[in-house]
Formats: sequence, structure tokens, C-alpha cells
Amino acid sequence: MKSLQYLNKYFLKYKWRLLLGILFTIISNYYGVQMPTYFKEAIDSFQSNIDHAESTDFLWLAIKLGGFYMMLSIAKGFFLFLMRQTIIVMSRYIEFDLKNEIYTHYQTLDQGFFKRNATGDLMNRISEDVGLVRMYLGPGIMYVINLIVAFTMIVTQMFQISPSLTFTVLIPLPIMSILIYRVSSRMNAMSALVQKEQSMLSTIAQETFSGIRIIKAYSREKETEQKMNQRAENYKNQSMRLVLVNAFFIPTIMFLIGISVLIAIYYGGILSFSGNASEKISIGSIVAFIMFVNNLTWPFASLGWVSSIVQRASASQKRINEFLETKSNIVNTNDEALDFQGKISFQHVSFQYPNSDINAISDISFDVSKGETLAIVGSTGSGKSTISSLLMRQYDVQSGSILIDGKPIQSINLPAFRDQTGVVPQEVFLFSESIRENLRFGVNENEINEEDLIEVCKLTHVYHNIQDFPDQFDTILGERGVNLSGGQKQRIGIARALLKNPSLLILDDCLSAVDTETEEIILRNLEKGKNDRTTILISHRISTIRNATKIIVIQNGERIESGTHEELLNLKGCYFEMHEQQLNQDKD
Ligand SMILES: Nc1ncnc2c1ncn2[C@@H]1O[C@H](COP(=O)(O)OP(=O)(O)O)[C@@H](O)[C@H]1O
Ligand SMILES: [Mg+2]
Repeated sequence: MKSLQYLNKYFLKYKWRLLLGILFTIISNYYGVQMPTYFKEAIDSFQSNIDHAESTDFLWLAIKLGGFYMMLSIAKGFFLFLMRQTIIVMSRYIEFDLKNEIYTHYQTLDQGFFKRNATGDLMNRISEDVGLVRMYLGPGIMYVINLIVAFTMIVTQMFQISPSLTFTVLIPLPIMSILIYRVSSRMNAMSALVQKEQSMLSTIAQETFSGIRIIKAYSREKETEQKMNQRAENYKNQSMRLVLVNAFFIPTIMFLIGISVLIAIYYGGILSFSGNASEKISIGSIVAFIMFVNNLTWPFASLGWVSSIVQRASASQKRINEFLETKSNIVNTNDEALDFQGKISFQHVSFQYPNSDINAISDISFDVSKGETLAIVGSTGSGKSTISSLLMRQYDVQSGSILIDGKPIQSINLPAFRDQTGVVPQEVFLFSESIRENLRFGVNENEINEEDLIEVCKLTHVYHNIQDFPDQFDTILGERGVNLSGGQKQRIGIARALLKNPSLLILDDCLSAVDTETEEIILRNLEKGKNDRTTILISHRISTIRNATKIIVIQNGERIESGTHEELLNLKGCYFEMHEQQLNQDKD
């Protein structure tokens, strides 16, 4: 329950809507209470004159009661509508705010957070959990308000007619609330299971369709089908149980209302014949009581339902709060403008990933300035990409320091630094949007024109591919658009980084899917602008980095050799061996 207090700030924000909602609830219930009272008086006055009554008088009474019932129902209904319009709409606003709050918070968090938490979990917080919380904010709150208002108003009226009859007819109602609470909780638990089965089912279906080629190639259709049938069977069984519990729900309510009405008639009947004047009640009163009991049914039924909703919402909000309370390990403390001069220095940097106890890199040092190209070469898993992440301050190092223009990376304006950097990661990520939108992802729309786009695409040797597409720059990528080859993706990735005109360009093994000739062309093109920037070239292929100003060779996170291409070849060490090996490979 405590976790839900987090939402109070939103109630405060929308307090006028909430207050208006309460007002509408009161008005709506006021009309509801008028009905039985009016019936009672009409019937009683009719009954006292019943000896002189003619048949037309009966008709008049029926028309009068019917007309009044209709008018009051319309009035009550109208304010019920307004009540929903204020309170449920408020809950939708809060849902919107909360989703935005969580989403915005996600974006402030560091890489480590996203590695720790599965994408599915992050999505669930925003969709499923917020959805459950909204049930508390909307229907939950609304029914509680309605219960309080209705109960107070109706019981006051009932008490004025007969206290003892009031107590007696009310007995079944709390029992009903408890029963409904039990049934709802059970139903919620079961529908959670059904949901889980459902998502397993769709996961299997999805995997089958995306992996259909391999399934057919290995002719595993039968086994896949069996797996699917097994899951579908589980899903069916869980659903059947839910349906069974569900089927008890309405009958239970009807049964308990029936008992209340029965008590009203039986005990009311006894009281109406009672000799004791202080306890005697009229026929009209019995009619009113039956109507009152009916009016109280739904509020009491909702009480049980609301309790289980509140329970679920508080569990969800607790999970949401855990995420909202997570603080980023990487915090920017400097908002001063930054004019990056291109000097980067690693000094005895060692780093372990948060969830591992081996050094991804150890004691790495290097310096690189504007106009120079630093190349990092090494086999897969040697720590190359880690250096690139550390340089972008996706993690903070455990020992040693990274200096940007001589200042520790922790003290500079991080967004500004990232703004002046173009990184092309190993796995280029392209959005399912047009090529144009993907290219200008890192820049503002008005800063570039068509010529700029063409230029960077020519530099990265991808323009001729784009020209072949039917919609050229407006070709949509991904799901329903064109799917690019690995090499095309990488080249668009590089073009995207170049479009930023970065002062620091980091290419992390992003020419791996490009053939050596195209690679040559691109590298030669990149030479043109290199004096205005610092370049860090990461590769496992020696051909890529031959011309770099400095090359460092790393293995298992340690620097084992460094120098220029010629110097390293003369060393006849690791680099030399790699070179020989790769030369032979190219010949094969
Ligand atoms: N997010 C991570 N969490 C834990 N260990 C990681 C993570 N990323 C990389 N590593 C480990 O760090 C080492 C260096 O990885 P990486 O820098 O990606 O190598 P490279 O880019 O040279 O192939 C590897 O042993 C790898 O398993
Ligand atoms: Mg890598």
C-alpha cells in the first residue's frame, strides 16, 4: 500500500478534477436516494386512502411512479456520466504522465542498467504495470468514493425508517464484499497465469515464423508443432479454470442480494404487523428498503473487487518505484560549453564490467591528437570495443584516468562531448525509418541539406546503392521496407557519423562486412577530412589500419605492442604474425 503514496503528487496535480468527480458522485447518489423515498411516500399515502380508491387511481399511481422513476434515473445517469468523465479521465491523464516519467527516467540511466534489465521488463513497467496502477487511479478510486457517498446517504435514509431493519438487511453485504474479494484475488492470480501462458504461446509462434527457414532445413516441423500444441494445451487448461471461477462470480452476488431482499420482506413484514408502535413500519417502507438494498449492492460488490485491484496496483507501483529510484552511475555535472580540441589520453586505464570479475582492459595508455589516427587492433574479445565505450563514458573506469583535452572525462560536459563525437559501433543500429531520417539522426534537420547527404554517402561509397532503391533517400528500412546487407548498413552507419562533422570519429570494427576494395576506397575518402578531427580506428583486420599514425595491439585487454605499421612489422612479434596470417587468408 505504501508504494501507492508515490502517486499522491498526481492527485494533487489533478485535484480539481478529483473534487469535481466527488461532487458529481454526491449529486448522482442524491438522485438515487430520492427514488425509494418518493416511492415510500406515494405508496403510503395511496394505501391510507385505499378504501376509497377507484381503478383509475391505481393507474395514476403507476404512471406517477413510473414517470418519476424515469426522471430520476435520467438525472442520476447524467451525473454518473459526469463522474466517470472526471475521475476516469483524470486516471488517463495520470497514466500518460506516469508513462512519460518512466520513459524519461529510462533515458537518463547508464548502459549498465540496460545490461542488467531485460528489454521485456522495461517494457512491462511502462505498459502492464502502469495499466494496473491506472485501474487503481480510475475505477478503484471512483468506486471507493461512490461506496462512501452511497453508503452514508442510503443508510441515513434507512435508519430514519427503521434502525433494526437496517441492521438486519445489511448483514449479508459485508459477507458479499469478502467473498468477492476472495474471488477477485483468485481470478487475478489466474488471469496472470493465463497471460503468462499467452505470452509463451506468442513467443513460440514468433520464433517459429522467424526461424522457419532453419526449421524446414532441419525438418523439425513435427517437433515444433508438438511444442506448440503442448503450450496451447496449457493455455487452454488455465483459461478453463479461469472461466470456472468467473462463472461463480455473478451467481454469488445474486444469491447474497436475494438474501438481503428476503430479509427486507420477511422481517419488514413482521415489523409492519408489529403491535409495538415504535417499531411498526408501512408497506411503502418495505418497498423502499428493497430498493435501498438494491442500490447498495453494487457499491459493496465493488469494494471486494477494488481491494484486489489496490493490491495488484501496489505490487506494480512497487516495481515501478524500484526503477524510478535507480540512479544513473554516470552523472553529468558540467554544463559549460565545450570546444573539443581533439586531444585524448588514456593513462593506465583498467576496467571491469560491473557483472564480471575479469579485467576487460588493464593498464592501457595512449595519447592521440587532432589530425592523427590511432588504430587499435586485436582479436575478438581483446577489449577493443570496451575502449570505445569508456571513451564515450558509457561506464566509469575503476583505475587510471581518461583525459579529454587534458581534463578528466568525469569533469567535462558529457552531452556536449558526445555531440562532437561520431561513433560507429560494431553492430550498426538503424531505425525502421527512411534512409534520410537514419542519416540525419545525429543532427538537426535545418543544419543540413541534400548535398550534404549526397556527399557523405559518396564518401562512404554507399550513394550508388541508395540510387538503386526506388525511393532513394526516402526508402524505408526494416520490417516492411528494404533490408540492407551488412556492408550497406555499416556504410550508412559511417555516413551518419560523418554527417555530424565530428571532432572525434570512432570506427569500431565497422568495415568488417565490407570487402577490402570498398574498404580501401572509404578509408582513402576519410583521409580527406582527417586533419580536422581525431580518428580512432578499431579493427581486427590489419589492412584497415595500415596507414594509422599509431597502432596499438591488444590481447586479453593488455597492450602487447605499439608503433607504426613498419615498426610493428620489424618487431616480428604478434602483429607480424597476424599480418602474415591475414595475407595468406586473402590469397586463399
Ligand atoms: N557488457 C559486458 N559485460 C560483461 N563483460 C563484457 C561486456 N562487454 C564485453 N565484455 C567482455 O569484455 C571483454 C572485451 O570485450 P570487447 O571490448 O567487446 O572486445 P572486442 O571489441 O575486442 O571484441 C570480453 O572478454 C567480453 O566478454
Ligand atoms: Mg568489439
